Amino acid sequence: MNKVISFFLILGFALLASCKSGINAQTKVTTTSENLLEKRYKMLLDYPVDSMSMPRSMTIKTNLIKKVPSKDWTSGFFAGNLWQLYRLTGNEAYKNQAEKWTPFSKKESLNSNSHDVGFKVYCSFGEALKVENKQEYAAVIIKGAETLCKRFNAKVGAIRSWDFSKEIWDYPVIIDNMMNLELLFEASKLSGNKKYQEIAIQHANTTLKNQFRADNSCYHVIDYDPTSGAVRKKTTLQGYNDDSVWARGQGWAVYGFTMSYRYTKDPAYLKQAEATAKFFMNNKNLPQDGIPYWDFKDPGIPNSPRDVSAATVMASALYELYGYTKNKSYLAFADKIMTSLNSDKYILNDAVKGPFILDHSTGNWPKHDEIDEPIIYADYYFLEALLRKSNK
Ligand code: GLY
Repeated sequence: MNKVISFFLILGFALLASCKSGINAQTKVTTTSENLLEKRYKMLLDYPVDSMSMPRSMTIKTNLIKKVPSKDWTSGFFAGNLWQLYRLTGNEAYKNQAEKWTPFSKKESLNSNSHDVGFKVYCSFGEALKVENKQEYAAVIIKGAETLCKRFNAKVGAIRSWDFSKEIWDYPVIIDNMMNLELLFEASKLSGNKKYQEIAIQHANTTLKNQFRADNSCYHVIDYDPTSGAVRKKTTLQGYNDDSVWARGQGWAVYGFTMSYRYTKDPAYLKQAEATAKFFMNNKNLPQDGIPYWDFKDPGIPNSPRDVSAATVMASALYELYGYTKNKSYLAFADKIMTSLNSDKYILNDAVKGPFILDHSTGNWPKHDEIDEPIIYADYYFLEALLRKSNK
């Protein structure tokens, strides 16, 4: 039996056993979720190949798919999802489609306009390289790392995140930027050039020093003085306010420091990843099913939108964190998230025609943008969590 299907069978049984449900209910829930997922996966194949139209999110009411060009930070995820589906299912159709989409991100390896080169290049070409050991894929990753390093300031000890809103920030570094370090670590491994890894380590160390609060939650944005390297202010763009706890940011932090531990074995990274994971898992504002509201301090809770993307980033990170610590609470929590998502509450109904799997993510609440919608990166980390769970 396919390992993914086995995984959901086990999850379904565990969930229903804990609910003391009968055997008929067990069969029904498990079958429903398998069918739902399979139908959703196939919809990724139906999406027409177009270099200017990476699917990013969808408004279900109007059936409108938001499509973006390669310069958008989310552009690498669709190819990444297809590569991951190939690894999960073994179905060549996903690989064929992934091969068509991946080259569209190539030019982003030369675009130094933001730190997002890591998301755009690594989530597409990095996934491609896991399947096919092609020199051309490795070359794009190394080129992307070289480009990302242009944004590094040695005085600050970090890579600059954004160039916009220069009237607000002098040198903004956001927690999301930890995710881009994977491109640098991998580029060092592929090229033998230690520069990329050294910059990644400096960035992680600066983030470790300045981005976290005493309770181990993290700020979204730290603004630095680029000349002295001093912290100017600790603030937010996507959270409820500067002192709130943006849920996806906590996911980026746990994922970023766990991944950085993978390459460096620095125990300080593991310690921070565990502390922020515990903050998330034990938070009084976390709903029972483990899927957080978009911000842990939104005063509108419990009537605030959830953010499935924060949950899938966290689930994927916790599977990796469990591998290093053998702390079963991380494994149990990741499984809880995946069990919750494995239901018609979160998996999109097949009446929704779009290349997405999960509903109920929140992109940018302060901008009223992508609220409670299917968003591509939630699916990416969901598929990655499935792969990690099944050791693929
Ligand atoms: N990196 C942007 C976001 O998480 O929304």
